[in-house]
Amino acid sequence: MADMPDMADKGLLRFLTCGSVDDGKSTLIGRLLSDTHLIHDDQMLALEDDSKRFGTVKGGIDFALLVDGLEAEREQGITIDVAYRYFQTEKRGFIVADTPGHEQYTRNMVTGASTASLAVILVDARKGILTQTRRHTFIAHLLGIRHVLLCVNKMDLVGYAENTFRDIETGYLQFTDNLDFESVTAVPVSALNGDNVTGKSAQMPWFNGKCVLDFLETVQVDAGKNRTGARLPVQWVCRPDGDFRGFAGTVAGAALKPGDAVRIEPDGAATRIESIETEGEKLTQAVPGQAVMVTLTDNVDVARGDVIRHADSAMQTADQVQAHVVWMSENPMIPGRQYHLKLATAAARASITDLKHTININTLEHVAAKTLELNDVAVCNLSFDRRVAFDAYQDCPETGAFILIDRETNETVGAGMIDFALRRALNLTKQKLSLDKNVRADALGQKPAVLWFTGLSGAGKSTVANIVDQKLHLAGRHTYMLDGDNVRHGLNRDLGFTDADRVENIRRIAEVGKLFVDAGMIVLVSAISPFRSDRDMARDLLQPGEFFEIHVDASLATCEARDPKGLYARARKGEIANFTGISSPYEPPAAPELRIDADTTDPEAAADLVLALLARD
Ligand code: ADX
Repeated sequence: MADMPDMADKGLLRFLTCGSVDDGKSTLIGRLLSDTHLIHDDQMLALEDDSKRFGTVKGGIDFALLVDGLEAEREQGITIDVAYRYFQTEKRGFIVADTPGHEQYTRNMVTGASTASLAVILVDARKGILTQTRRHTFIAHLLGIRHVLLCVNKMDLVGYAENTFRDIETGYLQFTDNLDFESVTAVPVSALNGDNVTGKSAQMPWFNGKCVLDFLETVQVDAGKNRTGARLPVQWVCRPDGDFRGFAGTVAGAALKPGDAVRIEPDGAATRIESIETEGEKLTQAVPGQAVMVTLTDNVDVARGDVIRHADSAMQTADQVQAHVVWMSENPMIPGRQYHLKLATAAARASITDLKHTININTLEHVAAKTLELNDVAVCNLSFDRRVAFDAYQDCPETGAFILIDRETNETVGAGMIDFALRRALNLTKQKLSLDKNVRADALGQKPAVLWFTGLSGAGKSTVANIVDQKLHLAGRHTYMLDGDNVRHGLNRDLGFTDADRVENIRRIAEVGKLFVDAGMIVLVSAISPFRSDRDMARDLLQPGEFFEIHVDASLATCEARDPKGLYARARKGEIANFTGISSPYEPPAAPELRIDADTTDPEAAADLVLALLARD
C-alpha cells in the first residue's frame, strides 16, 4: 500500500468483504473494480481471453476470474492472505480488504478487518442468512466494525422477487439488533448482471434504496477507531555503527513528532523522540499507518517487541489478560497448552488458563465449553510467560490484537482481541529467596536435571527409569521419581485421559519437576506424555542442559504383545476410551537427547545408555 494515491481531500473508505466465492463475492468486487475503470487494460485483455477459455458466463466477461486470479497469485505470499485492492471514483477512494472466501477464512478476516470501518457481507438470495453469515457479522462486530452492507446477491435467480429480499433483510435486521452496529443496510443485487452494483437496476423498481457503489460513496463512517496516543511497536533495532541507533516500526494510534516525550514499554523508561525519518527523508510528524525509523534523545534500552508510546497516553502492561478469542484451527484449543503469542511486534508464550464461555453464533448465547473447536468464538483468560505492553482492542486494534501460533506446526490457530489486563496478576510479586538453586545443588554435590522418559504404555519407561534411579542412588546421587501412574494416584487424581487432561497432567508433572530441580535434585519422570508441544513446554521451564528427553521407543506391536497391565486388550475391546496408540495419538520426539530402541534393547542395557548420556554431559 506504499504508493497509495493521496485521498485526504476526498475521504477514504476502508472496507472488508465477507462471503464465499459461491456467493458471488469475486464477481461483485470484479464488477466494482472494472466499472470504476480500475482494471488495467492489459488485465482487461487477459480477462476477455480467459473468459473465453474458462469463463462460466456465456459471451461475457467473468469477473470472478479476475479476483480469483489475483487470489492465486497471493497464495504464494505466505504471511497474509489478504489482498488490499484500491479503487476510486469522483467522490471517494476505497481500500478493499479482500479475503479468500471459505468457511475457514476467519484468520484472513481478522487480519483484514483491523483497519476497516465497514463490512460488505454477501449472501446468496436462494440460501438466505446462513450460520456463516452470522459468524462473519459477529466477528466483524468483534473487530470493531460499526457499519454493515448486506448484499443479497443472485436476485436474478429468484426472479428479482421483492418478498425474497424482504424476508432476508428482516431476518438479518433481527439478528443484528442484538449487536450495536451504527448502521445495517441491505441491498438486492445481481453481481453477474450488474443490477444495483454501480447503477440502479431496472429489474427491481420496488427497491428505492441506493445501489452498492452509491452507498459506499456516501456512507458516513468515523475516521478511525483509535482512542489512544501514539504507539510505535518496535519491529527492529537498526545499528549500523556504534553511534547510530534507530528503531523501526509502523506508527499506530496517533501522530508522533520529534520532541515528543515517550515511554518505552513494558518497562516504562522515559525519553524523547529525537528524529523521525522514512526512506531517508526527515519527517516533522509520522501518522498512523506510516512505517518509520525513529531515534531517541537518550541511550535507553529498547528491544524488538517493545513499544515506544507517547508519554501522555498510558498503555497497560501485564502477563495476564481477558480476551475474545476466535479459534481458527482444525485442532482444538486445549486450556493449559502453550502457544506462541504475537502481539504487535512482541512475542511471548501464552496459554489459555480459563475458558469462560463460547458464544453461540446463531443465538449469541454464552455456552460453557472445555475446548475450542474450529471457528469458535470465546471469552478467555490468558497467561503470558512475561509482561507485555498492550491496549484494549477497542482503544487501539494494532496493539490490542494478537495471534496464537501452534508451536509444532507454526500454523496460526487463534486470533484474539484484548478486553483488559487482569489486575489480580499484577499484585503478585516473586519472593526473593536467599538460597538459590546453585547453592542447593552444590550442597548436594551434583548438577540438577530432569530425565524425561516418554513413550507408549508398556514400552518400558518405568522399568528403565527405575533401574537408572537405583544406579544413580548407589552412586551417591540425590534423585526422585515422578511416575505418571503414581502421580495420578495423588496430585493428579482428578485427571483422566482426554487430551485436555493429559496436557494438565504433564503441566503439573513438569512444574513439580522444576521445583525438584530448584531443590538441586535429579528427577526421573516417566509418563507417556504423548504430545510434543507439552514436552517442549516442560523443557522450556528449565535451563538449557537441564532437560533430557529420552524416547523409550517400542513399537505398538511390541507393547501390545507385552501388555503388562492387560490394558491394550481392554482398549481393543472398546472398554477403555482414548487409549494411547489405539484411540489417542502419540507424537514421537523429533530430536530427543536419547532414543532407546526398546524392541531390541533390554532394560539393563537401556539404563546404561541413559547413564552414559548423563556422564557425557
Ligand atoms: S499421560 O498420557 O498423561 O502422560 P500417564 O503416563 O500419566 O499418561 O499415564 C499413563 C498410564 O495410565 C498408562 O501407563 C496406563 O497404565 C494408564 N492408562 C489408563 N488409561 C489410559 C489411556 N486411556 N491411555 C493411556 N494410558 C492409560
